[in-house]
Amino acid sequence: MKFLREYTRKELDGKQVLLRVDYNVAFVERNGKKVISDDYRITSSFASIDYLLANNAKIIVLAHFGDPKGVDPILTLQPISERLKDRYADLEFAKTFEEVSQKSKENKHLILLENIRFFEGEKENSNEFATKLASLGSLYINDAFAVSHRPNASVVAITKHLPSIVGMQMEKELTNLDKILTNVTHPFVCIVGGAKIGTKVPLINNLLSRADTVLVGSGIACPLLRAQGYATGKTIYEAVEKKELTMLFESHKILLPQDVVLETDKGPTPIKISDLNTISNQEYVILDVGEETIKEYTKYIAGAGIIVWNGPLGLFENPDFKKGSEAIAHAIANSSAFKVVGGGETVSLVHGLGLADKFDFVSTGGGAMISYLSGEKLPGIEALK
Ligand code: 3PG
Repeated sequence: MKFLREYTRKELDGKQVLLRVDYNVAFVERNGKKVISDDYRITSSFASIDYLLANNAKIIVLAHFGDPKGVDPILTLQPISERLKDRYADLEFAKTFEEVSQKSKENKHLILLENIRFFEGEKENSNEFATKLASLGSLYINDAFAVSHRPNASVVAITKHLPSIVGMQMEKELTNLDKILTNVTHPFVCIVGGAKIGTKVPLINNLLSRADTVLVGSGIACPLLRAQGYATGKTIYEAVEKKELTMLFESHKILLPQDVVLETDKGPTPIKISDLNTISNQEYVILDVGEETIKEYTKYIAGAGIIVWNGPLGLFENPDFKKGSEAIAHAIANSSAFKVVGGGETVSLVHGLGLADKFDFVSTGGGAMISYLSGEKLPGIEALK
């Protein structure tokens, strides 16, 4: 693999580069306005951008936001471009390829293209789309570790058409996560929560070959609780293949919450999992783990040699349902294990609590981090080899 930091001024001077980053950040409502909840994924791209600008390269930044089906104005990168302008006042935002080409001809040094997933062919890893994309520049840099588990055109197919190298954040991710791959100190405890249940269950299964225990958050536990015959009310639910569920249970390494907190018409309601089937009104949603679960999970965390955390344990943005996630964050921060946290929402939570510097590494990746640490080959990284 070739690394951006190895590139000299001579090699970069005047070059038009395509820089793939991950700006898939969470937004929250503050004083009636939608604001970026945590800009770690944005600031993580500054090292590569600064290096390229200092060496007089011209940059076209490629990024996705959410999972749009075609053009969706709600998922525009416009707010991200405003945030970038705080640091790079000359940044230009381009909605189309034509606009990018025009701005590039005008010698604009930093252009952000609209959400790459608005374009047909991106999610299909289309070679035709990658060819079009590649025609915009002469060097491709992948600095988007967090999306490198997705075989998308701006991550994989593009590397067939341009010299392709590793960006500075990507290099940092590989260096730090490789420490866990090469030196496992048992017990290896993994905490997985958050949404994207369908994506995460197979990732947890892969991780089980390395991890000793996986502690599961409230949302992601739903298909598992249902498979055990428990009602889960109106809680967000994504079907998971039976064989995936069987693998999880047969590993005997999975710990499910023993109690949870429900949102009901009477407000937050703690309940034991074993009592879930006694509730007649199924209009509730499971939004946090309960006290017993916090105690149990904390014991595993205290005894761990390595801790990997991705995904909050409940709806931490709501004060009524933040207790589980916050307690677990503090428990991890206080442990003497080698600890890594990753994923947009989880990193936002850790930053909000002022605990980031207690971690050995804060990864920009969520699913990508779990996938990489389970020993999987990430298509976006393999394509750079
Ligand atoms: C993430 O948020 O984990 C990455 O940006 C990937 O997003 P995706 O799960 O929508 O592909």
